Formats: sequence, structure tokens, C-alpha cells
Amino acid sequence: MKIKHWLGAVLLCIATIAYPQHTFTVKANKPIADIAPTMWGIFFEDINLGADGGIYAELVKNRSFEFNNPLMGWSIKMSDKTDPQVAGMNPPVLVVNRKEHTANPRYIHVTVDNAVKGDFLLSNEGFRGMGIKKDIRYDFSVMYHQATAGVKLHIALSDSAGKELGSTTITPAETGIGWHKATAAFTANATVMRGRMNIWFEGNGAIDLDMVSLFPSDTWKGRPGGMRADMVQKLADLKPGFIRFPGGCIVEGYDLEHRYQWKKTVGPIEERQLIINRWNTEFAHRPAPDYFQTFGLGFFEYFQLAEDIGAAPLPIINCGMACQFNSKEVVPMDDLQPYIQDALDLIEFANGDVASTWGKVRAAMGHPAPFNLTMMGIGNENWGPQYLERLKAFTKAIKEKYPAIKLINSSGFAPDGALFNYLDIELRNMQADFIDEHYYRSPEWFYANVKRYDTFPRNNTKIFAGEYASHVDGTKGDQKNCWLSAISEAAFMTGLERNAAVVNMASYAPLFAHVDGWQWTPDLIWVNNLESYGTPDYYVQQMYTLNKGNKVVPVTLNNEVVAGQDSLYATAAIDTVKREVIIKVVNASAKPQENTIILEGAGKTAAQATVISMQSNDLLAVNSFTSPTNISPKTSVMNVKGKKISVKAAPYSFTIFRIGMQ
Ligand code: AHR
Repeated sequence: MKIKHWLGAVLLCIATIAYPQHTFTVKANKPIADIAPTMWGIFFEDINLGADGGIYAELVKNRSFEFNNPLMGWSIKMSDKTDPQVAGMNPPVLVVNRKEHTANPRYIHVTVDNAVKGDFLLSNEGFRGMGIKKDIRYDFSVMYHQATAGVKLHIALSDSAGKELGSTTITPAETGIGWHKATAAFTANATVMRGRMNIWFEGNGAIDLDMVSLFPSDTWKGRPGGMRADMVQKLADLKPGFIRFPGGCIVEGYDLEHRYQWKKTVGPIEERQLIINRWNTEFAHRPAPDYFQTFGLGFFEYFQLAEDIGAAPLPIINCGMACQFNSKEVVPMDDLQPYIQDALDLIEFANGDVASTWGKVRAAMGHPAPFNLTMMGIGNENWGPQYLERLKAFTKAIKEKYPAIKLINSSGFAPDGALFNYLDIELRNMQADFIDEHYYRSPEWFYANVKRYDTFPRNNTKIFAGEYASHVDGTKGDQKNCWLSAISEAAFMTGLERNAAVVNMASYAPLFAHVDGWQWTPDLIWVNNLESYGTPDYYVQQMYTLNKGNKVVPVTLNNEVVAGQDSLYATAAIDTVKREVIIKVVNASAKPQENTIILEGAGKTAAQATVISMQSNDLLAVNSFTSPTNISPKTSVMNVKGKKISVKAAPYSFTIFRIGMQ
């Protein structure tokens, strides 16, 4: 036994001595660049049921009967007594289409013929079922119109076996011309993942119904008709510097008719014109025939969300071009003015005085104060001379009226190749404020490109790494957010931070995915109808956002940046307010490493440093609903003595050291 222990100790000793040892030098008093407050942000798009069926907490699918199939999501059940086939009466539900009412043309006309509860049911299945929570109040509302009163509605939630989970009734009383709103609330008595909403009709008569809606009351900030609190909280916990919205390809649309038009997403929700979501049909292997945009989450709500979570708003608007992978439609230059006007009006909507046309709309929606918009993207992944031609027209008009607004320009869908190079040169000639770069690439690419920005010109044109994610198997399909994707992003991000002089904004994409409704993987945050969890990639983002600092300082290994030597990656920053030096180290190798940090120019250091670390020996390890923080940061303290600090870098680890300085 004793010999065994002795042998073990010797082996451990040999192993320790054999660990690679490196000495990093950090010059805490030699800042090389400011880190923009916007540096780490988030990218929001209604993809993977991100908005409808996701963060927008509406539980009723197709509430206004505007889907291509007007009764999609709804089912009708009749007892023999009321079945029109049997009883020979009027069809119980007709879909009426008011052609002249373009924003919300359809409603249903319901005929109730001496029914009692149990005879006639209209039922909604929710997006992928309805997530229902015990003891939470549910707010039902409906717009109705009737000539005479005579119909009573029994509204109930049920589980998949039909067991009732809570109910209420409404007896619409208003009659005559115009639409009226009826509301009722009830509390659920159980939690279920896939419930549904049933409306039983009682009485005798006919009634028109529209905007049939059910919201949980536990929305973010308790706002009626608001957003899922758990999902917004995940964003707030990132403390993002900016939020880009509403996408992504959704800005472009499959064709110009289905482009994102912000003006159609503000004002009363019943006036917001629904369109098909472009991800409905995009991928044959992930069809989503019930995916539409109701715009209940529209531009007012996006600005409000940005304000709530302390992020600078970054709207992207259509540049007069639809998706160049899809329809390839462009608007002729002669017809571009309305598109440019949309951009100008958006600035007025966000920042304008309450007496201005669009400032008035914002104020009427409950926000007289401006939203402090400072930047805007023109086009998403657009490219070619057609893009430049349109971009120039937008830039001229916007800069003339609002010279302080920074404009984000597209460099296409890839960070290299002929299309990218052409745009990069032209945009720099135009002295672009920001060039938006996108890369969905392999972990190897992320490691190999850590120095990408080291040689980028230091001038007024800044980089927005607007969409990126490490794709582990490099193909479309069910790609995992695992520790390998996350640690390769952590390594790459050292290069973004080191180049904060050039890179002023960065955001992972896409943000959300519903387990039963995704089109694209990997994604930062996964949700089901009740819960959400952050992936390892989420926690890497959070480690950067919460440990940002405001100035980059040099960290070197043998006088070189730490960018892959022995699979080590490092960056350093200082927080001049908290008086801390923040050193980030990634060890992307399977072996532990013993490093020494020589901290120069920090004065007397605090006796203890905070260490925040993510580590796993399993590169394919993931988080899940049952183990949501399997791969997540752990915080500890470390004693610090003098200017030579010994730090261990465990195999496959990302570690941040926060050291107090004078
Ligand atoms: O993030 C998913 C998609 O990837 C975005 O909509 C698009 O901009 C990019 O191609």
C-alpha cells in the first residue's frame, strides 16, 4: 500500500514537472485600446420560434386567423346535436375576409344553435402545445362583434388527456356596430408542457371573433401581452452592450413583399399585418408550416427590451434587396426612396420629439422619452454592386439628416472570398462606420483566425462581428452546442478583445431555439414551452460580458501575442473604475499547463484574486434541461503575492483572473 502511494507521488511529481510552463507578461499600465461599451452584444432574430412561439408570450397560435390556412392551429368539435351535418343548420364557423381591411382582414363568424357546454368546441393547440404553469394567472381576451347578445364562452385550459387546468367564462354584452374587447382571467391548477385552450360555446345566436388571445401574467416586468420572463432574464443576465434586431435574413425576406417593414410592427397589435416567417419554408429538412410573424413583438417592443436590459438598440433595415439566396429581388433605384424614408422615419420614431410624426407614435405607445438610437444597419447579408449602389443612397440621406448616426454596412455572408474582398475594399473607400462580418465556421477555423484582426487597419472603420458561431460538424442539421464549440469561440474572442481598437461590437448567432421548433443549429439559448437554458457558448459569452474591462492592455508570451502557442490563447484588459486587471486564458489542449503571469505596472496588487473558470475534459459535453449548468463557470479565489503569479490552466479550460490593483 505504502509503496503504491510513494510511486503515485513520484509519478504525480514527474507529471507536474512535465507540464508545459509558460510566462505571460501583462503590462497593466500600457493600455493599447479602449474597449467599446458596446463590445459584446446579442443578435435577435425570429428564427427557431424565437419570437412567435418563443419570447413573445402569446399562447394562441393563429389568433387572428391570418395564416395561409385560416384555421391552422384551431380545431372544431361538435356533438351530434349541433353537428351541421346531422342537425342541418348553418356551418358553425365561417372565416370572413374583409378585403378592404388590409392589416387584419380575417375573422371568424360563429353560429351557436341552442348549445350547452359540451356541444360545440373551438380549440387551439398552441405553438408546440401551450406551456401552462400551476398557480399562474392566465389572461384571456377576444375582439368580438354581434348584432344581439346570446352567446356565452367557456374558456378552459386542458392537458393532452383533456383534464381541465383552469377555466373562466365570458358573456359578450356589447351589440351593434364596431368591435369590442372582452377579457377574463383564471388561474391554472397544474403545470403541463403541452396544454391547449378550449372555448365551449353556449346559447343561441351568432358572434364574430378576432384576436383570440391568451397570455400568462408572469411576463417580463409583468407587462400584459408581454414577453416570457425566463427568456428575457437570460438576456439581461448577459448584460449585453447592444441588441441587434430583427435579424438576420428575416430583414431581407424571401422576396421584397415579405421583407421586414418596421412601420407595420408598431401601433395597436390588431393593426399589425401578419406575414409568413421566411424560416417557414427555408429548409426542406426542417419545415415549419405554422411559422408566421404576428409582430406582437414589434419595433416598439424591441426598443423597450433594449432599454430594459441596458443594451444599445441596433435595428437593421431592408436596403431595397430581398434575400440574394432566395428570390434575388431588388427594388429599382428610382423606387428606393420609400425604403430610405423608412430608415429616416425609424430614427424619428426612436429619437424624435413627441410632436414629430413618428415621435408621436412612440409616445402614444407609452414611451414619450427617446430610445437613444445611435446606430442602424443597412441591409443584412447583402452583397454586390447592387448593394453598394443602394447603400450609398441610404448613407447620403441618413448622414445629411442625422450625421451622428453610425451605419452598419454588410460584407455579405462570408468573411472571405471574392464577394467579401470586393465589398471590404469598396466599403473602406466609402469610409464605412462599421463593416458587419458573419462567420459560421468550424472550431478549427475559429482557432486559426484568432489573429484575424491583428492586421486590420486602425482607422475610423470599425468591425461588427455581427453573426458568428463555431459549428462542430460543419454541416447543417442537429449540431450541438458543446464545449468544443464554446471553447473555440472563447479562444477566438481573445482576438476580438485584443483588437478592440478595430472590433467594436460582436454577437453570437442565432440567439434562441425551441427544442420542438428549430430550423438552425447551434444556438445560444435553448427553450421548451416552460424553461430555458444557456449553452456552454452562452456561458462563454457571459464570461466576456461580465468581465469586460474598459481598456485592452498587452499580454505577451516571448514578446508575442498569445494566440495558439501550445494551444494557449490570452487577452488582458483593465477596469479603470474597479481598478482591476482582467486576464483571460484559454487552454485548448488536453494537457494541463502551469503558467506564470508577470504583472507589470499594476502597483500593489490585492492579496486575493477572483478566478472564474469553465472546464471539461469532454469536448462534446453539453448543457440540457435536466442539467442546465453542466458546463458553466465556477468562481473561486486565489492568493496573490507579488508580481509573479502562478496560474494553472487545466486541460480544455477557459479561465479569467480578476486581480485588484492600485
Ligand atoms: O443566424 C441565422 C442566419 O444566418 C441569419 O438570418 C443570416 O443573417 C445568416 O445567414
